[in-house]
Amino acid sequence: MANKIMQWLDERLGLTTIYNTVLDRKVPKVNWWFTLGSASLFLFVLQGITGIFLTVYYVPSPDHAYDSIQFIMNGVSFGWLIRGIHHWGATLMVLTVFAHMLRTFYFAAYKYPRELTWLTGVVLFLATLGMGFTGYLLPWNQKAYWATTVGTQIAGTIPFIGEFTLNVLRGGPGLSAVTLARFFSLHIWFIPAVIILAISIHMYLIIRLGISMIPGKDD
Ligand code: HEM
Repeated sequence: MANKIMQWLDERLGLTTIYNTVLDRKVPKVNWWFTLGSASLFLFVLQGITGIFLTVYYVPSPDHAYDSIQFIMNGVSFGWLIRGIHHWGATLMVLTVFAHMLRTFYFAAYKYPRELTWLTGVVLFLATLGMGFTGYLLPWNQKAYWATTVGTQIAGTIPFIGEFTLNVLRGGPGLSAVTLARFFSLHIWFIPAVIILAISIHMYLIIRLGISMIPGKDD
């Protein structure tokens, strides 16, 4: 019965072709360092899922942000666990993406024909840091407030466009409700959209080109 249903769906959706193209590919003999991209993907999905759960109780306003986090930690069943995974997952994701970038650099995997895989990777790296920076403000505690004050001030020292960048990030000269709303929106909509687009292109290229071999002595 299950077989018949699968066959019916396969004829209409081409599931076998999708499976063969996406998952049943030949890979050269590689090592554990080549699993860091998949680990980054796993962590991104985990951050997405735990983040969606956090938005159920989190309120992005200066009056309620701090209290809503306290409520998630102490009042919501397993809230501490969801927040804990999201908190530590963020750090782990930055480390994993960075290690993955070092691996591809070390093995020169950015060379022809994988230049675009590298370039979409650069977007992913910057966007991952952006997620960390925007997420850090959301608990709206002392550490978050002052870290963002300093972080945005650093952006303000960029020659020529510094003041403009600082105003765009803060939504005014100082940190306010506008800053929190902006960071929240960047954190849950804009940057994830960029990451999803970049990952789609990144994965398309990996499936299309296959992964590189470990360079030999004569390469
Ligand atoms: C969210 C971030 C990222 C995800 C989910 C991701 C995912 C992946 C996956 C699954 C692979 C397949 C092979 C492997 O794991 O090594 C891969 C390969 C690759 N990635 Fe990433 N990646 C990310 C970030 C980056 C960054 C930051 C760079 C560099 C700036 C980069 C450059 C590359 C290159 C050049 C390859 C081809 C490797 C080869 O063919 O040996 N990626 N990526």
